[in-house]
Amino acid sequence: MNTLPTHVTLVDVGPRDGLQNEAQAVPTAAKIELVHRLQRAGLREIEVTSFVSPRWVPQMADNAEVMAGIQRQAGVRYSVLTPNMKGFEGALAAQADEVVIFAAASEAFSQRNINCSIAESIERFRPVAEAAHAAGMKVRAAVSCALGCPYQGEVAVSAVDDVVQRLLDIGSDHIGIADTIGVGTAGRVTTVMEQALKRVPLAELSGHFHDTYGQALTNIHACLALGIHTFDASVAGLGGCPYAKGATGNVATEDVVYLLHGLGIQTGVNLDQLVDAGAFISGVLGRKPVSRVANALLARRALT
Ligand code: HMG
Ligand code: MG
Repeated sequence: MNTLPTHVTLVDVGPRDGLQNEAQAVPTAAKIELVHRLQRAGLREIEVTSFVSPRWVPQMADNAEVMAGIQRQAGVRYSVLTPNMKGFEGALAAQADEVVIFAAASEAFSQRNINCSIAESIERFRPVAEAAHAAGMKVRAAVSCALGCPYQGEVAVSAVDDVVQRLLDIGSDHIGIADTIGVGTAGRVTTVMEQALKRVPLAELSGHFHDTYGQALTNIHACLALGIHTFDASVAGLGGCPYAKGATGNVATEDVVYLLHGLGIQTGVNLDQLVDAGAFISGVLGRKPVSRVANALLARRALT
């Protein structure tokens, strides 16, 4: 039997991957408060915002203000998404600790999301990775549509493998395998991850699972069985991708923490405080958290 990891690192991408998809205006102060609440709950990696075109993603237009407004806590890594050098310059000025570059395993999605081919995107990311390293920043790379694409459907494992290698070739320190539209199931996830592990060290491979088809927790468990111990998740299950219509948010951080603690795996996260963070931002958005665990715990609190 496989031994599961004893500790898992969670990257909360809610402030970025979650909020980027909100049509309603979210006050900058609420975004800052969300980051504060996440770090108070014990998250040590937070994806705060993205330095993308405000015409493409208006919700992230306050990126610099959000970064400037955060009271940083020692030991927390604050990352931001950067699609090109212009984005990198914003990230540098905002003193981000880490930049996230994102290439797709599907040509169709690459065109819709960042308006260029996969090959062109890699060439745009090359100077970003170089400049980030020169500035002492870590470079995390996401591979979108690794389990399926909203435009082309099936995505071959070889296509994922190819993008992983190209991202490593330009100097990415970390590879995240992303199920952008949440269609993957555990067997396929295992196959994709086993292939990625031939190229990426275990400590630098992570999973990023949107939960559209309700498979994310099972997919995370499949990754744990391979020893993978870093996952993205989004508090209150916030989000989706503006260029993947119908896809829901990332798996809720609350649900992942509940699973991991149940397995005896440490996360450093205080579930009660995390539920508070999720309830806070859900209140700002005027809806309930998209997390079974958060809603169950909130209902139990209401009874006592
Ligand atoms: P483009 O229109 O081809 O860009 O967009 P361009 O280079 O031709 O420039 C056009 C204009 O945009 C210019 O302004 C640039 O200055 C400006 P103008 O001279 O016309 O006034 N511009 C920028 N402004 C601010 N920040 C920038 C920037 N770059 C150019 N960084 C571009 C290309 C990549 C910019 C655009 O397509 C874009 O911003 N896309 C971002 C899309 C996005 O954010 N998608 C969601 C995030 S990815 C995701 O969620 C997936 C992930 O979670 C993993 C998963 O689940 O799969 C990571
Ligand atoms: Mg995503």
